[in-house]
Amino acid sequence: MTDLAKTHALMARGRDFLGTEHAIMCGAMSWVSERSLVSAISNGGGFGVIACGAMTPDLLDAEITATRAMTDKPFGVNLITMHPDLTDLIAICGRHDVSHVVLAGGIPPKGSVEAIKVFGAKVIVFAPTLALAKKLLRSGADALVIEGSEAGGHIGPVSTSVLAQEFLPALAGDHVVFVAGGIGRGEAIAGYLEMGASGVQLGTRFACASESIAHADFKRAFFRANARDAVASVQLDARLPVIPVRALKNKGTEEFTVKQREVGVLLDQGKVDMGEAQLQIERYWAGALRKAVIDGDIENGSLMAGQSVGMLKEEEPAADIIAKLMAESEDALLRR
Ligand SMILES: Cc1cc2nc3c(=O)[nH]c(=O)nc-3n(C[C@H](O)[C@H](O)[C@H](O)COP(=O)(O)O)c2cc1C
Repeated sequence: MTDLAKTHALMARGRDFLGTEHAIMCGAMSWVSERSLVSAISNGGGFGVIACGAMTPDLLDAEITATRAMTDKPFGVNLITMHPDLTDLIAICGRHDVSHVVLAGGIPPKGSVEAIKVFGAKVIVFAPTLALAKKLLRSGADALVIEGSEAGGHIGPVSTSVLAQEFLPALAGDHVVFVAGGIGRGEAIAGYLEMGASGVQLGTRFACASESIAHADFKRAFFRANARDAVASVQLDARLPVIPVRALKNKGTEEFTVKQREVGVLLDQGKVDMGEAQLQIERYWAGALRKAVIDGDIENGSLMAGQSVGMLKEEEPAADIIAKLMAESEDALLRR
């Protein structure tokens, strides 16, 4: 018996699926989840995921190579389904024999799951509704992440606690399901594992790990913030269905309103179609997030953060964060 026996027993299926010591995934975070953080998470016994975001196939190729040089442990690659070069990005993952591909940002386009499975990788998907989750699992997806509205970045409308009650009893008996959104401590992990989850995914808690390349000012903004500062963006134009983004309130939050108005006008004038309009909005987010994460412009950039941000107080190595989460989960289970 290890001193994490209870948590490990509940994580057994997730650990087996990921090939890791602990079933804790660090969700891909654009600009943040690159070689340094991804390898630190995987070397720390968790599961790191490279955020491809808006990378070109060549950049993804280089990032996978560099990550491999820093860890011999399993890690995944997160691809955004609306990326115009999705097919080429999948081919790059195939060339590198990537073991797990996460398809995010929308329903996987026809043929994408099959194209990934050709080279033997496991496919992890997100699903906003139970019906869609069942459909994706039936059509070849190997695991599911359910992510509640407490999360940082792009979010759905339903909280993690409600999604967990809706999805886990229906799916966890037969499928690998990871729970994400608002997890800051191990006690919450214990709770979701007891409900049937195979593991969990965290983003915000890892964004400021010592190995995260995020700018020092970005990290400071996180350490200062309270849960209530991480707010969801507001949709301005009913015709333009922008996916809400949770981020710390700043001037950039207001600039997003201006951007939506601009794209709305282009739609009105027939200069862009709906697909292009949504792509423009996503490019805006990628640029705004880069400004904050890389340049440290915490006024105008996007400080994507989940509500668990209020629990972050200092920089810690990724391995220490993982060890702490596991110990908190185990203590909680031992008290039952
Ligand atoms: C700064 C930031 C950037 C993110 N970028 C992405 C992304 O590019 N792709 C993605 O699928 N999820 C992205 N996410 C979501 C995370 O992968 C993860 O699911 C989420 O952070 C989990 O919720 P939590 O923040 O409450 O821990 C991002 C989250 C944050 C905080």
